[in-house]
Amino acid sequence: MKPFVQCSGIKKSFGSKEVLKGVDLIVEEGKTLVILGGSGSGKSVLLKIIIGLLKPDSGRIFIEGEDVTDYSEKELLSIRRKISYMFQWGALFDSMTVFDNVAFPLREMGVSENEVEERVAEKLSILGLKDAGKLFPQDLSGGMKKRVALARSIISEPKCILYDEPTAGLDPITANQINKLIRKMQQMLNITSVVVTHDIKSMFYVADKVAFLYEGIINFYGDIAEAEKSGSDTLKEFIYGGERNGV
Ligand SMILES: Nc1ncnc2c1ncn2[C@@H]1O[C@H](COP(=O)(O)OP(=O)(O)OP(=O)(O)O)[C@@H](O)[C@H]1O
Ligand SMILES: [Mg+2]
Repeated sequence: MKPFVQCSGIKKSFGSKEVLKGVDLIVEEGKTLVILGGSGSGKSVLLKIIIGLLKPDSGRIFIEGEDVTDYSEKELLSIRRKISYMFQWGALFDSMTVFDNVAFPLREMGVSENEVEERVAEKLSILGLKDAGKLFPQDLSGGMKKRVALARSIISEPKCILYDEPTAGLDPITANQINKLIRKMQQMLNITSVVVTHDIKSMFYVADKVAFLYEGIINFYGDIAEAEKSGSDTLKEFIYGGERNGV
């Protein structure tokens, strides 16, 4: 087992609110880790710390064994080529077409326009957006926006993708397509993935490992079968509560 991402003792507060109280976590190379946790538990904050959009108050982040915690914006560029982050709300540029949104990371890297055309067309096609290139975000449904965001996060062919609630707000069929895509990219391209989700069905579909973020620390880390055996009551409630209650 080789760690792709390693978080060691990560702490983060906002004002007097201590959100992360010492998070230790490993994301194994080529595997999919699902992070579960209640609303406001710090899942998005943790992803932003991994990619360097937020700095931890203390603790270290290692990417492929390299300590990147104190990297400058410039040094972080190399990390952002390896790891892409799919924002929770898509975060598309409203004034750009779908095509230009997806092309953005490639143009930032100085890829030639011919290659941009080719790669964007390919990704739009994979995600069922072949005819959507000229549309603007305001013209899209929620599911389409997610798929555009996903196309943008895979366009640079990263080694690792951090997905923040990739299926939230989607109908079950579209959600399932996204789940399949996450699996497909892992299996075909050996992409390491971190998936933050509330969607338990999605978790069962994509997870190799599960981490439960609770009260600022990783309350459980292991596979789903282990969670059933040795997870805390809170975790079991989180996973099975909905089912038991028939929700
Ligand atoms: N930039 C910020 N400034 C101040 N507080 C913040 C900031 N970012 C996050 N927080 C706070 O940190 C806590 C954790 O936020 P975070 O967005 O990580 O939660 P989450 O687990 O992703 O929740 P959700 O499931 O609702 O997306 C919240 O209380 C939030 O208000
Ligand atoms: Mg969040």
